[in-house]
Amino acid sequence: MSKKILANDGISKSGIEALQSAGFEVLTTNVAQEQLVAFINEENVSGLLVRSATQVRKELIDSCPGLKLIGRGGVGMDNIDVEYAREKGLHVINTPASSSASVAELVFAHLFGGARFLYDANRNMPLEGDKNFKGLKKSYGKGTELRGKTLGVLGFGRIGQATAKIALGIGMKVMYFDPNLQEAEISISFYDDRSMSFPLRSSSKEEVLKAADFITLHVPAQKDYVIGKAEFGMMKNGVGLVNAARGGVIDEVALLDAIDQGKIAFAGLDVFESEPHPEVRILMHPKISLSPHIGAATGEAQDRIGTELAEQIIKLLN
Ligand SMILES: NC(=O)c1ccc[n+]([C@@H]2O[C@H](COP(=O)([O-])OP(=O)(O)OC[C@H]3O[C@@H](n4cnc5c(N)ncnc54)[C@H](O)[C@@H]3O)[C@@H](O)[C@H]2O)c1
Repeated sequence: MSKKILANDGISKSGIEALQSAGFEVLTTNVAQEQLVAFINEENVSGLLVRSATQVRKELIDSCPGLKLIGRGGVGMDNIDVEYAREKGLHVINTPASSSASVAELVFAHLFGGARFLYDANRNMPLEGDKNFKGLKKSYGKGTELRGKTLGVLGFGRIGQATAKIALGIGMKVMYFDPNLQEAEISISFYDDRSMSFPLRSSSKEEVLKAADFITLHVPAQKDYVIGKAEFGMMKNGVGLVNAARGGVIDEVALLDAIDQGKIAFAGLDVFESEPHPEVRILMHPKISLSPHIGAATGEAQDRIGTELAEQIIKLLN
């Protein structure tokens, strides 16, 4: 079998090096979708690595008999016909855990920034900072600390648990709701290899919504909203809410109403219902902290994605 891997949407240097040292050749050309079949066959590629851009559909799988493995750097595999590929005997792999800590840190960037109005101060300081310093100081002068507050986590999988670690580490209380995980043990590792464990239990969704000062969502995409009008109604007044899960798990119209009614003090959004064209009302809202779906986009996560893919490929194709 050939030991050629095509990383069509890119791969970290660490991943390339790991593969090369195991005798693989790594091609990093970005081949256009319509030329992909010809390229894979001509170059005798046995492993195709993609992120979210390249589509790996039935036709491609059928037309590339030499292909043995499809790898997705990251989580979602909507761009790959996974079941079909597996039926045909291909390995289909991904790296679901590699970016959890990065997404969790972005959640806290939104939370810390939100609790101190940084998202709005950064919009207004360049415009008024020299003429209206005192006015701005007053506007942003009623911040809150996160320490001692309750973080409600909806969805307690890999990323939900990674946010819980940071929250516990800065002295927050953590409550979570996850219909598939009654109990969880959160182990926090410190820089000097000491660690500490916290046993947690799922509360009901309603209990979490009623008690939390800050709420963060880490659920998969689903048919219905996880947070809509009814859920906003259960929350305390002045909650900070973050969504770095998937657009469509929060009802954005209900969110705007909840902000305007003072129910939500600020929202931090990394994902949007109408991505990649978020609603202008969301983008322009002075109480929303925004980022363009960059939860997993850190050098460290990209490195881990590359090395995790390499490790799996070496095991499966060597
Ligand atoms: N912002 C980003 O760049 C970025 C990066 C990676 C992943 N994500 C997204 O983050 C989300 C979580 O990823 P993960 O790796 O932690 O997934 P995971 O599968 O490890 O955890 C998801 C958890 O949500 C629970 N769940 C499902 N439906 C629920 C509901 N209605 N209420 C409460 N809990 C529910 C599941 O039982 C599961 O434990 C996914 O939507 C993923 O697409 C975003």
